[in-house]
Amino acid sequence: MKILLLGKNGQVGWELQRSLAPLGELVAPCREDSDLCGDLSNLDGLARTVQTVWPDVIVNAAAHTAVDRAESEPELAHTLNALAPGVLAREATNIGALLVHYSTDYVFDGSGSRPWAEADTPAPLSVYGRTKLEGERLIQAACAQHLIFRTSWVYAARGTNFAKTMLRLAQERERLTVIDDQFGAPTGAELIADVTAHAIRQCLRQPHDAGLYHLAASGETSWHGYANQVLACARLMHSAIKIKATEVVAVPSSAFTTAARRPLNSRLDTTKLQHCFGLTLPRWEQGVGRMMGELA
Ligand SMILES: NC(=O)c1ccc[n+]([C@@H]2O[C@H](COP(=O)([O-])OP(=O)(O)OC[C@H]3O[C@@H](n4cnc5c(N)ncnc54)[C@H](OP(=O)(O)O)[C@@H]3O)[C@@H](O)[C@H]2O)c1
Repeated sequence: MKILLLGKNGQVGWELQRSLAPLGELVAPCREDSDLCGDLSNLDGLARTVQTVWPDVIVNAAAHTAVDRAESEPELAHTLNALAPGVLAREATNIGALLVHYSTDYVFDGSGSRPWAEADTPAPLSVYGRTKLEGERLIQAACAQHLIFRTSWVYAARGTNFAKTMLRLAQERERLTVIDDQFGAPTGAELIADVTAHAIRQCLRQPHDAGLYHLAASGETSWHGYANQVLACARLMHSAIKIKATEVVAVPSSAFTTAARRPLNSRLDTTKLQHCFGLTLPRWEQGVGRMMGELA
C-alpha cells in the first residue's frame, strides 16, 4: 500500500509519520520540495502530486491553523483549508484512493453545554472555522471514500501549542491569567495519529465505515483546568522543569481581545467513533502527562 502524507512537519503530521509507517510505503513531500509539490497553496501542483504518486490513501494533516491570523488572511485560509482539500477529494476519487482529513470543533458556535455530535448543525464563528467547514463539505461532495476527523485543542511535544506556552510562561512569571469559560478536551497528536492508522486499516477492509467522526480525548476541562494540570505535572518533575508561577488566575474570555471569536463549548461527542472502530478513548490527563514526560 502507498500513502501520500501532506503536512508531515505539523503536530499531527509528525506523529502520522510514525503511526502510518507500518501500513506501507509513505510518500511525504513538504511544501519546499522541488520534485513533488507538497504546497497546499499550489492547487495544480497538488493535483499533479496525487497523479504522480498514485497513492491508495491520501492523508492531509496540513492546514492554515493560525486561528487569529486567518481573520486577516481569509483568502489564504480559504485556499489551504477549503480549496486544497477539495482538489485532494477530486483527485482521490479519480484514482480510487481513500482521503483522510482533519477538521475542528471550531465549526460549531459553542452554544449550550452538551457535547457536539456529528449530526449537529455547524455555525462557525471565525474565518478558520468557516474555511475548515467548507473543506469538509467539498470533500463530502467530491469523494465518497473519506475519513474526516474533527478534533480539538491539539498538543504534542513537538510544535507550538497552549501547553507548551503555559509551561514557558510559568517558568518566567509568578502569576498566569487563563480563560475558564471555554470547555473542551485537550487531544494529543499521538492519539490522533494512532486512531487514524487504526481507522484506515478498518476502512480499507470495510469501505462503508468511511465518513465524518469526532475524535477527542475523553473527559473535559477549561483552558484554566488544562493549565493547572500542565503545571501540576511540571511540579512533579521538579528536578527537570523549574516552575516560578505560584498563581493561575481564572478569567472569562472577555478578559482577552482576540481577532477571532472562539466557541465556549468545544466538547465533542465521540460515541460514533468509539462504537464504529471499537475504541475506548483515554482521558485527556493521560496524554498530557505523557507529553510532559517527553518534554522533561
Ligand atoms: N492545533 C489544534 O488545536 C487543532 C484543533 C482542531 C483541529 N485541528 C486540525 O488538525 C489538523 C492538524 O493540525 P496541527 O495541530 O497538526 O497543525 P500544525 O501543527 O499547525 O501543522 C499544520 C501543518 O500545515 C502545514 N502547512 C501550512 N501551510 C501549508 C502550505 N501552504 N502547504 C503545505 N503545508 C502547509 C504546516 O507546515 P509548516 O510546518 O511548514 O508551517 C504544518 O506542518 C489540521 O487540519 C487542523 O485544522 C487542529
